[in-house]
Amino acid sequence: MSTQHDPGPVKGGMFRTKTVEQSIRDTEEPEHALKKSLSALDLTVFGVGVIIGTGIFVLTGKVAKETAGPATALAFVAAGVVCALAALCYAEFASTVPVAGSAYTFSYASLGELVAWTIGWDLVLEFALGTAVVAVGWSGYVRSLMDNVGWNMPEVLSGPDVAEGFGFDILAFVLVLLLTVILVLGMKLSARVTAVVVAVKVTVVLIVIVAGSFFVKADNYSPFVPDPVQQPAGSGMDAPLVQLIFGYAPTNFGVMGIFTAASVVFFAFIGFDVVATAAEETKLPQRDMPRGILGSLLICTVLYVAVSLVVTGMQHYSELSVSAPLADAFKATGHPFYAGVISFGAAVGLTTVCMILLLGQTRVFFAMSRDGLLPRFFSVTHPRFGTPYRPTVLLGVIIAIIAGFTSINELATLVNIGTLFAFVVVALGVLVLRRTRPDLHRAFRTPWVRWSRSSRWPRSIWLMLNLPAETWLRFAVWMALGFLLYFVYGRSHSRLGRLGDDAKY
Ligand code: ALA
Repeated sequence: MSTQHDPGPVKGGMFRTKTVEQSIRDTEEPEHALKKSLSALDLTVFGVGVIIGTGIFVLTGKVAKETAGPATALAFVAAGVVCALAALCYAEFASTVPVAGSAYTFSYASLGELVAWTIGWDLVLEFALGTAVVAVGWSGYVRSLMDNVGWNMPEVLSGPDVAEGFGFDILAFVLVLLLTVILVLGMKLSARVTAVVVAVKVTVVLIVIVAGSFFVKADNYSPFVPDPVQQPAGSGMDAPLVQLIFGYAPTNFGVMGIFTAASVVFFAFIGFDVVATAAEETKLPQRDMPRGILGSLLICTVLYVAVSLVVTGMQHYSELSVSAPLADAFKATGHPFYAGVISFGAAVGLTTVCMILLLGQTRVFFAMSRDGLLPRFFSVTHPRFGTPYRPTVLLGVIIAIIAGFTSINELATLVNIGTLFAFVVVALGVLVLRRTRPDLHRAFRTPWVRWSRSSRWPRSIWLMLNLPAETWLRFAVWMALGFLLYFVYGRSHSRLGRLGDDAKY
């Protein structure tokens, strides 16, 4: 890493930046240094471990049934392309600024404090609600497993997606609370446990692809892109924003349906951005980060396209289950044994995804609090367990309640809009840092920047526009709350703002 000139902390109100050198120096203080032990292979395994989750195990069925039919496979390709472009940017910044904290730290170094705050606040939304989505997905598979042995959960306790009328997802609620306790106690997933869980999850996905391919019926693919179906009148705010802007009558299916589906299954790719948070613990981040991020993304895209093709070929899309579609497609074709194995593997795999997202969310909250942008009360660690227990408990309880009461689609679309927004900001940050710090050594440079400048943001923004208008509204409310907090609290309490030019950050 070149450190030819270090401008020092910049005072400058909400556009003050924490320099790349400061960020890296922070990581070198012996008491805060993390061990650099991860290789490209470790990162790829970690990536696949976080990425494969509710997106493929649950949302595939829901979007195939309601929005895209067999063309869901194309939706996965479209979402994968957007992610690959964003992944190139993440790879460049994670290899240039190899510090923990992902997009938050990176924005602090390139675009200034207000943007960093915005991204941090946005990441809390992404990880917190992402945890809730995965918990709801987990609960669907546990219920499918219970159903295999003849135990039926009452509908009212199966969540709003299953119950007619009021529904509370008791399993998702309990899972989030249990994981919160585990994180407070400081129990970690060892690398070995993670590797075993990833192996279980990938095996289950391969079982679906290989065993399922024997039960595919060509008739189920016809039509591959179902004709557009007008959405019921009065569904205004549920309609994709792009359809409302251009005055189309909102439709499901058809070509537009593929994009709407892409904006939902995009959730299945979330997690490669979490790989970037491990930059500080990577042996050779400049070489291994791009390999780890892009490698895990490629593996997942291939698996997702194959799974969605097989599942929509096994069962007609209109009959797919919305809570445990992969397992239920095997039940529907008369193979409950496979269904049991898949439900078991999915439940094991989703537990760790849920835990990693919950952990990620508390880390971002912790980092923001340590920088003084949120009350420092939240970065006081537990005297005995050494964990940031205050944000963990506070957010854990809130997420558990949200997971219990909210529909998985509503949650996933909100996570997606937040993540896509982060992509746009990161792409911007990469360009700004190239201009402001051309001297920094970049072992990995995003290729075709000139070309991608005109295509990367539009692609992320296009997917965002395909999300429902009500998702935009919720997102706007969340962000407005964030700005209010920054101007009322963060701006005046920022640690960077309080330190002078000669301060040792
Ligand atoms: N990509 C992860 C999932 O699908 C978050 O569950």
